[in-house]
Amino acid sequence: MASQTTAVPLRAGILGATGAVGQRFITLLADHPGFKVQRLGASARSAGRPYGEAVIWRMTTPLPEALAAQTVVECRPEDFDDCDVIFSGLDASVAGDIELAFLAADHCIISNAKNHRMASDVPLVVPTVNAEHLHAIPAQRLRRGLRRGFLVTISNCASVGVCVAMKALEAQHATLGRINRVNVVTMQAISGAGYPGMSAMDMLDNVVPYIGGEEDKLETEPVKILGALSEPLLLTDLVVSATCNRVPVIDGHMASMSVGFARDSTASQLDAAAATKVAVDAFTNYQTLASTDALSCASAPRPPLHVLSSADRPQPRLDRDRGNGYAVSIGRVRPCPLLDVKFTVLAHNTILGAAGSGVLNAEIAQAMGYLTRREACKH
Ligand SMILES: NC(=O)c1ccc[n+]([C@@H]2O[C@H](COP(=O)([O-])OP(=O)(O)OC[C@H]3O[C@@H](n4cnc5c(N)ncnc54)[C@H](OP(=O)(O)O)[C@@H]3O)[C@@H](O)[C@H]2O)c1
Repeated sequence: MASQTTAVPLRAGILGATGAVGQRFITLLADHPGFKVQRLGASARSAGRPYGEAVIWRMTTPLPEALAAQTVVECRPEDFDDCDVIFSGLDASVAGDIELAFLAADHCIISNAKNHRMASDVPLVVPTVNAEHLHAIPAQRLRRGLRRGFLVTISNCASVGVCVAMKALEAQHATLGRINRVNVVTMQAISGAGYPGMSAMDMLDNVVPYIGGEEDKLETEPVKILGALSEPLLLTDLVVSATCNRVPVIDGHMASMSVGFARDSTASQLDAAAATKVAVDAFTNYQTLASTDALSCASAPRPPLHVLSSADRPQPRLDRDRGNGYAVSIGRVRPCPLLDVKFTVLAHNTILGAAGSGVLNAEIAQAMGYLTRREACKH
C-alpha cells in the first residue's frame, strides 16, 4: 500500500465550496501534505465571482489568500478535468444529478450529500469505522463502466459518533453478543443545518425537538455502515430507534445511547455491571485501520476514541476538537435497566461528521491504491 503523502499533492476540486461543509474542506486542506485545492465550485449565484466575495466565510481560521482570489466555477465536470479528487458539499436538492454527471466523466467523488448513500454499490464510509468498505470500489467500477472514477459517500453527521461507539462494542461481540437494539437521542449543533441555518430567535434559549429527515437517516445508515463488505454491500439485523433535537451549540453533535446485545449461545450471559466493564474496555482499546501505521494516513486520529472518566463529560465546547475534530469522545458508560449498556457520545459534526471524513476517506482510498492522479489513467 502506498502512503497518501506523495511528493506532488493530488489536486482537489470542491463542489459546494461556499457552504458550511465546503468551507471546512478548505480549512482542512489548507496545509494538507497530500492534497491541494485546485478548483472551487458552487451555484450560478456564486460562479464567476472571486471566492472571497462569493463566500460568507464562517471559519475561525483565515481564508487562504490564494483561494480568496480564485474564481468560483459552476459544478460542471469539464471544468474540473485537472482535478484528481472531487469533494462534494453540495446541497442535497442538486447533489444527486451533479455527482452522477461527475461520475460519468470518470471522476473520483467523495460526497457529503445524502442522495446516493444507500445505493447498494456505493460505499457509505465513516473512515474510523468501516474503511474496508472502500474495497467495494472495484465492483462499482465494473458495474458502472468506470476506469478510475468512483463515488464514495460519507454518513449523516449524527451517525458518525453513534457508529464509532457501536463498532467498538462489536469488536467485543464474542463476549457481549451482537448489538441488535439501539435507542439514541441526539443533541445536534446548529452548524449541522448549514449557513445561515435556523435563526437566533428560533435557537437561543431553546431546544427544537425535530430535524427533518434526520431520524430516518440515523435509523438506516448505521445498518449499512456496520454491515458486511460484499457485493452488493450487506446490511445488519440492527434496529435503531432515533430521536433528534437541535440545541443551541455551534459545533459538535452529542448523543445519548442505550445499546442491547443479542444473547446467543456463543455470548456469555454477563450481568449489567460486567457488560459495562467490557464496554469500557472495548471503547478504551478501540483501534481502526485508518489509525494504524499500515495506512499512515495524515489526518487519522490516534486514538480514534477518547473515553472520559469525569461524570460530566463529554461536552461539545470542551471535547469536540479532540484529535483535531477527527476523534470521538465517550463518557457516562453505565448499565441500562431497559437494554444493556448506556453512554454519551460526542463527535464534531463538520469535521468527522462531514468534511473531515471526506479528507480521511480520500487519504485511505489513496493508500489503498484506489485514488490516483487523473492523467495516470488516461489512454
Ligand atoms: N453541515 C453539516 O454539519 C453537514 C454534515 C454532513 C453532511 N452535510 C451535507 O453536506 C451538504 C452541504 O451541507 P452544508 O451544511 O454545507 O450546506 P450549505 O451551507 O447550505 O451549502 C450548500 C452548498 O451547495 C451549493 N449549491 C446550492 N445549489 C447549487 C446548485 N444548483 N449548483 C451548484 N451548487 C449549489 C451552495 O452554493 P451557493 O453558495 O452558490 O448557493 C453551497 O456552496 C448537504 O447535502 C448536507 O446535508 C452537512
